[in-house]
Amino acid sequence: MTLLFRTLLSPAKAAAQRLPMLQRAPLSTAAAPSIPSRSQALLRSQPRQTRPALFQAPNYLSHATHRHYSTELKAQVDIKDQSSASVVDSSKVHLRWKDGTTSRFHSFWLRDHCHCPECYHSVTKQRLVNTFKIPRDIKPKSVSLSSTGLDITWDHENHKSHYPFTWLNRHSYDPKITDPYLPEGAPKKTWDNSIASNLPEVAYKDVMESDKGLAEWLNNIHVYGFSFVSGVPVTTEATEELAKRISFIRETHYGGFWDFTSDLGHGDTAYTDLALGAHTDTTYFTDPVGLQMFHLLHHDGEGGHNLMVDGFHCAKILKERHPASYKLLSEIGIPAHSAGDLSTHIVPSPRRNPILNHDPVTQDLVQVRFNNDDRSTMNHLEPHQVDAFYEALFDWNKVLTDEKNLLWTKFQPGRVLIFDNWRCLHGRSAFTGKRRMCGAYTNWDDYRSRWRTLNTSAKQLAEDL
Ligand SMILES: [Fe+2]
Ligand SMILES: [Zn+2]
Repeated sequence: MTLLFRTLLSPAKAAAQRLPMLQRAPLSTAAAPSIPSRSQALLRSQPRQTRPALFQAPNYLSHATHRHYSTELKAQVDIKDQSSASVVDSSKVHLRWKDGTTSRFHSFWLRDHCHCPECYHSVTKQRLVNTFKIPRDIKPKSVSLSSTGLDITWDHENHKSHYPFTWLNRHSYDPKITDPYLPEGAPKKTWDNSIASNLPEVAYKDVMESDKGLAEWLNNIHVYGFSFVSGVPVTTEATEELAKRISFIRETHYGGFWDFTSDLGHGDTAYTDLALGAHTDTTYFTDPVGLQMFHLLHHDGEGGHNLMVDGFHCAKILKERHPASYKLLSEIGIPAHSAGDLSTHIVPSPRRNPILNHDPVTQDLVQVRFNNDDRSTMNHLEPHQVDAFYEALFDWNKVLTDEKNLLWTKFQPGRVLIFDNWRCLHGRSAFTGKRRMCGAYTNWDDYRSRWRTLNTSAKQLAEDL
């Protein structure tokens, strides 16, 4: 069996007569590598292939045509006997897969991405090569295929690089074989109040005693935006330990782990017995808290039911019913503040953020930021925007307060609730009596990191970088 190895003698000749310049070079066929096909690659990340329509902003925002990758790729890709590596015009290396797809890599890009021990720290996963010392016109002196990947010797410092086929296939950008913008993990499941009959829940014992239990808990939050934990000892200590299973606790001006009653201990309505409409917390932070955990330790009165609303579900409904309002709430920035304590005056940077925040590239909805109580003065609106803004806000409020979308649960000592504050809104009914709650915030990035490392293999994660 022969593998084609094409190398170019001169760029000018290449352009004129590429074919005659091919050189055949026999390569070892022993232990021929098996390259994941596109279907295998997608299978590996199968949950990613579904892009729920609701996570996409309306067409007005859609300019992300570059997200689409070739649909011509065939399922089977195997380097074994039908691939070739070639250098074209010195500036690019071509790698042809079994199905005929050719991946084209810029020489400089390849050199910059060398993962040899000299160029990349395998433990810290940091680049060691000095990109700025690589000649911009670097080119391969030779390219060859081994059983595991592409080998290149460079014309600068005679450096040798090895690129595993799996890595090349995963990161092929011309064409894009794996969509680099596919969302991570299992598809999110949005919900209305019918979820009450089947609430996501895990056992405290499982979470505390095994990483499998912890992974399941975090994946509930990823998929549904919230999860209950049952069988939690009714103490602040156990609740804090539970929060720390995910990550360190995020400290704010309210402190770290909180343990509060309705005594207005801080200048915020959370510390009263008033009813609270559905909202997300900390809209006044540049980086709103990611997770929020609540544990009712004691209540000797009436009321105080907990309200949960799936913001992503409501956004989907708003988009369907009132696309103009969806558009407006995706664009108009809302200023927010926290200034209830004399020593505090927090506002985010940027100062104003939309209620519906999207990934700028994929246009996926990534964050709902809404707390009408914490909204600052809307003095930045253009005169013609004032009525339109309030119309949109009313449309949003109508969806958020629609009975069908409200999940009411009763807090119980021993049953902890945790939710994604970038997705789910929460509130409560008024209550009487003495109520003691404890809980904690977690940073978004730290929650996601923990979820990622527990739900994806280290090998896969390393390859994704
Ligand atoms: Fe809150
Ligand atoms: Zn290297």
